[in-house]
Amino acid sequence: MSRRRVAILISGRGSNMRALIEAAHASDYPADIALVVSSVAGAEGLAFARSAGVGTAVVDQARFRRENRDREAFDAELDTILRNAHIEFVCLAGFMRILSAAFVRKWEGRIINIHPSLLPAFRGLRPHAQALAAGVRVTGCTVHYVIPELDAGATIAQAEVPVMPGDTAETLSARILEAEHRLYPGALKQALNSCIC
Ligand code: GRF
Repeated sequence: MSRRRVAILISGRGSNMRALIEAAHASDYPADIALVVSSVAGAEGLAFARSAGVGTAVVDQARFRRENRDREAFDAELDTILRNAHIEFVCLAGFMRILSAAFVRKWEGRIINIHPSLLPAFRGLRPHAQALAAGVRVTGCTVHYVIPELDAGATIAQAEVPVMPGDTAETLSARILEAEHRLYPGALKQALNSCIC
């Protein structure tokens, strides 16, 4: 079995990144987590990636902002880093940027994301608060293909998570996060097994 060279894009804590790196320690897992790229220089997840022996890179969105360089310039640098590292497949994991349509088209079918709701419900920002405001009894998380439209690509896998009485966005988020860590490794495996990359 050939393992695909996978990059994970993060902006912060990186707990889903960690779940993927740990899953990839299994010899029969179809991904080699070859690179972690952060859009934030001091992102917490970078330290774990380094300690796990995974290569890291930063495309610093704050620097791009200071230098008045636009989204296309950011995405072009990101694309160059991924290609130079011979990356075949990309996982977004708490990557807090919207990627340009041009970038997404280049990677279409080879880029996936995890979102903490049962899509198509509660797309976009603050999905936990959206779920609480809607009064649903069940929410969850979704791993889906990335397309230019936000949180709208085909679903790969979902997990349901109950909303408990008295939940806040924080308590609900923590419960969903545990489900995310269980869901994402299997969803990546499934996506790679059906990828013609
Ligand atoms: C997760 O809830 C993920 O679904 C969302 O952002 C959060 C990232 O958490 N897109 P982490 O950085 O993986 O810990």
